Amino acid sequence: MRPHIFVTKLIPDSGMTPLRAFGEVRIGREKGSISAEEMIAGAADCQGLLVTPGESITKGILDQLEHLTALSTFSVGFNHIDIAECTRRKIGVGNTPDVLTDATAELAMTLILAVARRVVEGDQMVRKQLWRGWEPMDFLGSPVTGKTLGIIGAGRIGMRTAQMACGFDMPIIYTSRHPKPDFERMCGAKRMALPELLQQSDFVSIHAPLTPETRHMIGRAQLAMMKPTAFLINTSRGPLVDEEALLEALKNNRIAGCGLDVYENEPRLTPGLAEMPNAVLLPHVGSATLKTRSKMAVMAAENLIAALSGVRPPHCVNPEVYS
Ligand code: DGY
Repeated sequence: MRPHIFVTKLIPDSGMTPLRAFGEVRIGREKGSISAEEMIAGAADCQGLLVTPGESITKGILDQLEHLTALSTFSVGFNHIDIAECTRRKIGVGNTPDVLTDATAELAMTLILAVARRVVEGDQMVRKQLWRGWEPMDFLGSPVTGKTLGIIGAGRIGMRTAQMACGFDMPIIYTSRHPKPDFERMCGAKRMALPELLQQSDFVSIHAPLTPETRHMIGRAQLAMMKPTAFLINTSRGPLVDEEALLEALKNNRIAGCGLDVYENEPRLTPGLAEMPNAVLLPHVGSATLKTRSKMAVMAAENLIAALSGVRPPHCVNPEVYS
């Protein structure tokens, strides 16, 4: 019997085609967020479920999906899934690492350059026809070349961002649970504790996963350690930063600005954040290139098909299920 598969949101054809060849596929929505109730109703008889980062898979939801044996997320991050509970139920879970590393690192660099050189402010002025011509003292931004980049979390994306930043002659400092000798050799990167990194960086770029330990790792105390001329960049997960504290720091010019692709309560923003001229705000588009999303779709489908076949997914976040 062909397995039943619920895909919460339509993903690129490169993933839909193999899924449709393998099982009976139902799609939750083409676009827009799907509620927990809709997901439960749609996936109640399914063995396979493919979700996106905005959809929490909690114990409560798993309790309702009694046929589920395979779960795949169309993302590298899996903080929205109760992995321990999946493992306990022998549900194999797959994610999409590597293929989005370049795209996300590019976006971190984009935010660094955009906030430092006031790209969005300038764009707005031109569009609103408020620009009156070239001025010697208008739109003076901050230089990027030669400025120190602090990488919080030297995983794949953090290291790739640093490598790109080397093209701007940026000295690299980083935090990581373990030293990264290859990274240090490649980028001349220096490992240090978070407080020192915050004190020394001109740009702080967050690349850590969201866990109970990293939630609000950048709060009022950490923002107070940053240089008043420094910028905070986050392309990882919103709840790593206390958004209220960040807003306060931006308002008080405690730091110079921020570039965010992720938010504490997506898609909602802390009231006031959208009004800050020193914040560049993007709608969680780190992996959003056609090439990357197509590769993610292939990977997400391969993971789900493997788990539905009782085989360990090629990119599995709970390999214990198969040991
Ligand atoms: C991820 O993959 O975790 C991103 O946040 C979405 O592409």
